[in-house]
Amino acid sequence: MTNSLSQQGLFSSRWLFILAATGAAVGLGNIWKFPYMAGENGGGAFVLVYLVCIFLVGIPIMTAEVLLGRAGRKNPVDTMYNLAAASEARPVWGWVGIMGVVAGLLIMSFYSVIAGWALHYFSEALQGAFIQQDAAAISAQFDQLLQSPMTLFAWHSLFTFMTALIVMLGVSAGLGSVAKYMMPFLLLVLLVLVSYALFAGHFAEAAKFLFRPDFSKLTASSVLAAMGHAFFTLSIGMGAIMAYGAYMPASACVGRTIFAVAILDTLVALLAGLAIFPLVFAYGLAPSSGPGLLFVSLPIAFGQMPAGAVFGALFFAFVIIAAWSSSVSMIEPAVAWLTERFGFRRWQATLVIALACWLLGIASVLSFNLWAEVKPVYLMGRNPFDFLDMLTSQVMLPLGGAAMGIFVGWKMAGRLRQTELASLSPMLQKALLFLLCWVSPILVATVMMAKLYESFGA
Ligand code: TRP
Repeated sequence: MTNSLSQQGLFSSRWLFILAATGAAVGLGNIWKFPYMAGENGGGAFVLVYLVCIFLVGIPIMTAEVLLGRAGRKNPVDTMYNLAAASEARPVWGWVGIMGVVAGLLIMSFYSVIAGWALHYFSEALQGAFIQQDAAAISAQFDQLLQSPMTLFAWHSLFTFMTALIVMLGVSAGLGSVAKYMMPFLLLVLLVLVSYALFAGHFAEAAKFLFRPDFSKLTASSVLAAMGHAFFTLSIGMGAIMAYGAYMPASACVGRTIFAVAILDTLVALLAGLAIFPLVFAYGLAPSSGPGLLFVSLPIAFGQMPAGAVFGALFFAFVIIAAWSSSVSMIEPAVAWLTERFGFRRWQATLVIALACWLLGIASVLSFNLWAEVKPVYLMGRNPFDFLDMLTSQVMLPLGGAAMGIFVGWKMAGRLRQTELASLSPMLQKALLFLLCWVSPILVATVMMAKLYESFGA
């Protein structure tokens, strides 16, 4: 089974896998979501829990996902079914794959709305919309964007279309080339921005906010938010990495590769924080201002700095590219499933899936304006955007990820597992299995129960 090739083709090298997986991992989660969540949850303590989750839960589960993908060489649903059958486990494991496919589509539906904000800000920056504007004017511009459903919808449509285009091209042409050219460019722009924040912003205050934990700020909700974000930012728990693993050459060493991806991803998130928070403090913005944080703090800086229009455009181009190489991975499992299992052509599968995400995205578009206060009980008192965000990051990804870890740790046939684990040292293998069998399931279960208790108990 290990040697059979994936129907969708293979990445031509280990590097290409690293780039594609990093492309999937690094996205709005790092640049947009991580800073505002850290801000909303009190800074340092949240960051610390997030880091612990990346290492104790994220990296092991990411390894499990790649390992499953390489052992199965199919879309996540069939990979789970086939491996369960080969391991004499029950077919219900296939549902882990199905839940993943669904989670990917739900995430895509709101992700493209936010990526649409970045498209809008790219065009605004090019037109010099931020030049010499003060903080109040920049905030007003953002509010005005949120109040225009048609504008949001138009950008959401464009981004969905862009994603579909790359996915249609397929693994090596589409995913591979995106990764190859986009990632290095992305890191460079970020480094320049941090340097700017270093001399133009309140850097020391920002560093203190992000790295000095204040444990009195931690609640079960913020711990769950940090854990959920660790899954979201690494793109694990729904089969995206499993699908990419299926395209990974058999010769590549899993362990080091995954470590590289996780470190790069964490680095980008921390750098984004270090680019944004010095400006937040310098301009008197509230760290806890929510999803608008990135779109308000940085444009103020672009309005003040020399050549800010060029620089702002460059930055938002960077955000768009990062989001683009991530969104592709959200629908890849669904597309691979439709082609491999139901005989769709790649373009047909992409069309169907993109259309579904595009339509569902309307609910998120409206969540920022007409439906902002529509918070029905069946969405647990949230508007559709907040509900989808919570449902995917804090429920579906942790459950899916823990289930994959449990499968690898407890259920997978030893001979299948060992072929894939062979490149790790015996000690690392033991550590990995311990983390998968015990630590991540217990941690996920405990944090979820604590949150339920906090919400409904006392
Ligand atoms: N990790 C990406 C980000 O941080 C988002 C993402 C891409 C994702 N693919 C995913 C999240 C699969 C969960 C599952 O922006």
